[in-house]
Amino acid sequence: MEEISPGLENVYIKYTELTYIDGNKGIMRYRGYDINELAEKSSFEAVSYLMLFGRFPDSKELMEFRDRINSNLVLADYLKNILLAMPEKSDALGMLQTLLSAKASEELNYKYSKENDRDKIPEILGQVLSMVANIYRIKEGDSIIDPDPYETYSETFLRACFGKADKNRIKAMDSALILYMDHEIPASTTAALVTASTLSDMYSALASAVTALRGPLHGGAAEGAYRQFLEIGSPEKVDKWFNDNIINGKRRLVGFGHRVYRTYDPRLKTFKKYADMLAATNEEKNILATAKKLEETGVKAFGSRGIYTNTDFYSGIVFKAIGFPVDMFTTLFGLSRVSGILAHITEYVETQERLIRPRAIYRGPGERKLE
Ligand code: ACO
Repeated sequence: MEEISPGLENVYIKYTELTYIDGNKGIMRYRGYDINELAEKSSFEAVSYLMLFGRFPDSKELMEFRDRINSNLVLADYLKNILLAMPEKSDALGMLQTLLSAKASEELNYKYSKENDRDKIPEILGQVLSMVANIYRIKEGDSIIDPDPYETYSETFLRACFGKADKNRIKAMDSALILYMDHEIPASTTAALVTASTLSDMYSALASAVTALRGPLHGGAAEGAYRQFLEIGSPEKVDKWFNDNIINGKRRLVGFGHRVYRTYDPRLKTFKKYADMLAATNEEKNILATAKKLEETGVKAFGSRGIYTNTDFYSGIVFKAIGFPVDMFTTLFGLSRVSGILAHITEYVETQERLIRPRAIYRGPGERKLE
C-alpha cells in the first residue's frame, strides 16, 4: 500500500558532500568545516569556491575567481529597463525573480554541459550581486548603477548599495553570506533541484528557488521575526504579548522551530555576535533587547518540545544594522543562497542525475459520465 510523506519529511532525494547537519546536537558544517569558523576566518568567495569545487582555492585561483565575478557586474540594458518599468512598491524578491527569469530567456539554445555550466558560475554570482544592489537602489528611489569592483564580494555589494561601507559591516555582511550560503536542501534548493533535474538552465533553477524562498515558513521568516519585535515594541511588553498572541492567540513564534533542528540553530552564535556588535542606535538596542527577552520566553515555553530559536531570529537585526530596510531581508537571504544552490544543482546533475518526479495517490471520485 502506497503511503505519502507530508511535506516530504524524512524523504531523501540525493547524496551530498556539501552540508552536514546534526539537528539534535546543533552542528552544521560545509564540506567538513564548522560553519561558524568559516564565517569568522574565511571569505564568501573562498567558501563559495570550496562548495562548488570541493576544496579551497589557492591565492591565484581565488584572485581569478574574484576577477571573473567582478567582470560580470554590469547588467544588460534590457534588465535595467525591466527594473525601471516595475512599480516602485514592487516586492524585492519578486523583482529578483523577474530578473532571473529574464536572464533565463537569454538561454535560447541551452543544452546541458558540465563544463559550460561550471564556467558560468562566476558570471551568475556577479550578475546577481548587481541585480540585488540595484533592486535595493531602485526601491530607495536611487539610480541604477554598474557596481565598481572591490576586492571582496561583500565590499562590492555594500558599496554598490550605499556608496560606502565600513570594516565591521563588510565583515558582518560577509559572515551572513557564508552562514546563509547553504542549508542542505530546504524548500528553495529543492525547487531548484526539481528544475535542474529536467536539465533546464541555471538561471531557471535559481528563479524557481527564489519563488519558494518567499513564504513566511522559509525565507520570509527573518522579516517576520523583525516585524514581530517591532510589534512588541520593548522588552517589558514581551510577556503579555507572548501570552496574548502565542499561547492564547495560537500564532506561531516567528524565528522559532525548524524541520531539522531540535536545539538551537548553530548559525545563531555568529548572527548574535554581529547583532551585539552593530546595534548602535537606541532603536536598534531596544529591538535587540526585545529579541533577547522574547528568545528567553520562547525557549522556556517551547524548548522542552525541541522548538528553539532559528537563525532568522537574529539575522534581520544584523541586516538592519548594516543599513537595509526590513523588506530587503529575504532578498539578501536569496543573494547568499546562490552559490549553495548552484553547488547543489551541479552536484546533483553531475553525479546522480535523475528527473525528480514524485507521485500523488489519487483519492477523487471513481469514473463518472458527463450527463
Ligand atoms: N511557534 C509555535 N509552535 C510551533 C512553532 C513556532 N515557531 N514551530 C513549530 N511549532 C509547533 C507546531 O504548532 C506543532 O505543534 P502540534 O504538534 O501541537 O500541532 C509542532 O510544533 C510541529 O510543527 P510543524 O509545523 O509540524 O513542524 P515543521 O517541521 O513543519 O515546522 C517550521 C518547521 C515551518 C519552520 C515551523 O517551526 C514554523 O512555522 N516556524 C515559524 C516560522 C519560521 O521561523 N521559519 C523559519 C525556518 S528557518 C529557515 O527557513 C531559514
